[in-house]
Amino acid sequence: MPAVVLIGAQWGDEGKGKITDYLAEKAEYVVRYQGGNNAGHTVKVDEQEFKLHLIPSGILYPGKTCIIGNGVVVDPAVLLEELSYLAARNIDTSGLRISANAHLIMPYHKRLDAVEEDRRGEHKIGTTKRGIGPAYMDKASRSGIRMISLLDGAEFKEKLAQNLEEKNYLLERVYEAEGFDLEAVYAEYMGYAERISHLITDTSLLINEAILAKRDVLFEGAQGTLLDVDHGTYPFVTSSHPTAGGACMGAGVGPTRIDQVIGVCKAYTTRVGEGPFPTELDDEMGEEIRKSGAEFGTTTGRPRRCGWFDAVILRYAARVNGLSSVALTKLDVLDNLDTVKICTGYKYQGETITEFPHSLKYLSQCQPIYEELPGWKQDTSSARTFDQLPDNAKNYVRRLEELTGVKASIVAIGPKRDQTIPVIDIF
Ligand code: IMP
Repeated sequence: MPAVVLIGAQWGDEGKGKITDYLAEKAEYVVRYQGGNNAGHTVKVDEQEFKLHLIPSGILYPGKTCIIGNGVVVDPAVLLEELSYLAARNIDTSGLRISANAHLIMPYHKRLDAVEEDRRGEHKIGTTKRGIGPAYMDKASRSGIRMISLLDGAEFKEKLAQNLEEKNYLLERVYEAEGFDLEAVYAEYMGYAERISHLITDTSLLINEAILAKRDVLFEGAQGTLLDVDHGTYPFVTSSHPTAGGACMGAGVGPTRIDQVIGVCKAYTTRVGEGPFPTELDDEMGEEIRKSGAEFGTTTGRPRRCGWFDAVILRYAARVNGLSSVALTKLDVLDNLDTVKICTGYKYQGETITEFPHSLKYLSQCQPIYEELPGWKQDTSSARTFDQLPDNAKNYVRRLEELTGVKASIVAIGPKRDQTIPVIDIF
């Protein structure tokens, strides 16, 4: 009865929503542990498509307990919107619980996110402007407002007043933007409190009790390894810990309780926002992958930058997350290609590098070294077992395993639930 952490092994958008949905059929608890509504998960159930940003994708199955952990930053307006969206589509959301320690995204966080990005000019990060960074900044500086404060109006108002004093000064005097009115924000958030207070609880206790009772628990990461504030391509990262260790911190469980870590990665690489990307394809091939992979952001609609699979990144993800296996997604996107390339290492100033460089400057000067494999030129989307894949597709997967040192436990060949090939049992 395992506790499994599912993380993004690249720059996010690896298809974690689909794999979570697949595994959530068996798991009883699904837990989000970091990030906020900067994430976007698209899940296809029969002919219906669901787009979720905050609520764990496990909610699409009846009877699951879905948890927003303490490490998540929650915009209550988005949460309520998502609850209404699900209710309108007859999805039962009664299993949702939110950590009392999760921090709230406030209206000033969103405005600060926008004005700070503008100020950065050519050094912009390319944030989603959802207020994520400023909310985590307040958490770290110990001035943030947590879910638990929504349960006590007087306490909430006092914290809000303290915050507004500083944020309005910053917005109005430094950024020459509009500030916020205490009573208006207070009234808005008390309105949210009325509708979500009953969901707020000690989720660490809930999760640990579930693990002790040998229930299957799935921790669903958002974003990806290279967007981790410590292990990613800093400063072009998000402000939380999408890596596996983040699950412990962001859910309140100890590392000894985790049984497996699955890294979700695409059969190629994508990235949104700014920052170096060694295998980026700035040509027709990149355009073809973007088109056939529908590589446009779920949250912002931005076109994603596309490139070949980078085994250096995957080896790095295997190291910092302690990957037990990999879930390889979107293999079908490569179906029509004559040949497929895999980056096996980088050239840096004439030297061959096989480990992901820790310096961004260094990374931006790395040239990919490619190995070229024959394509399979066959539709894989109806394969249901690994053996049903064309030989060249199998060879591609096996070569990725060799180069990264991690076995594939799942291969996905389309957006639908049944377009998922189990290779190794997880639950
Ligand atoms: P933030 O998380 O909005 O602060 O954005 C910081 C960086 O992370 C930007 O480069 C974003 O494009 C990127 N990012 C944030 N969330 C996601 C995601 O879910 N998928 C891919 N990139 C993301």
